[in-house]
Amino acid sequence: MKVSYEQLIENAIEARKMAYTPYSKYKVGAALLSSDNKIIKGCNIENAAYGPTNCAERTAFFKAVSEGVKEFSAIAIVGGLENETDLFSDYAFPCGVCRQVMREFCDSEFEIVVARSTDDYKVYTLGELLPESFGPDNLKA
Ligand code: THU
Repeated sequence: MKVSYEQLIENAIEARKMAYTPYSKYKVGAALLSSDNKIIKGCNIENAAYGPTNCAERTAFFKAVSEGVKEFSAIAIVGGLENETDLFSDYAFPCGVCRQVMREFCDSEFEIVVARSTDDYKVYTLGELLPESFGPDNLKA
């Protein structure tokens, strides 16, 4: 990987600053790395009707795919209440819906980096976080 985990986490922390979270006050930032080493940032965007809220990870994926980028190698995610800025109390794991969106475009080796800071992070594969999954191959004849 040409981009380091630390750089990807820095981008996720930067992305989190744009989170729109008037309801939960829980801000998430994601930095998605494409196979050709582009970084696509995303934040969570909440809604007064709650249901239309979009997670940071999906914002990053949908931004990328809508610009024609569909191959990815890793994503870094940070999250915490708005008073937390660069040392988060917990790792922010992706929700089930976001894991399924990752599954649409990524193979089981796709790396998911959950970070509390640029030097406190854990790396998982999508296969570890979404085992025995349903994906595009299941619909092929
Ligand atoms: N959220 C994310 O952005 N990513 C996740 O994977 C989990 C949850 C957001 C959605 C909502 O704005 C806030 O966190 C609280 O659920």
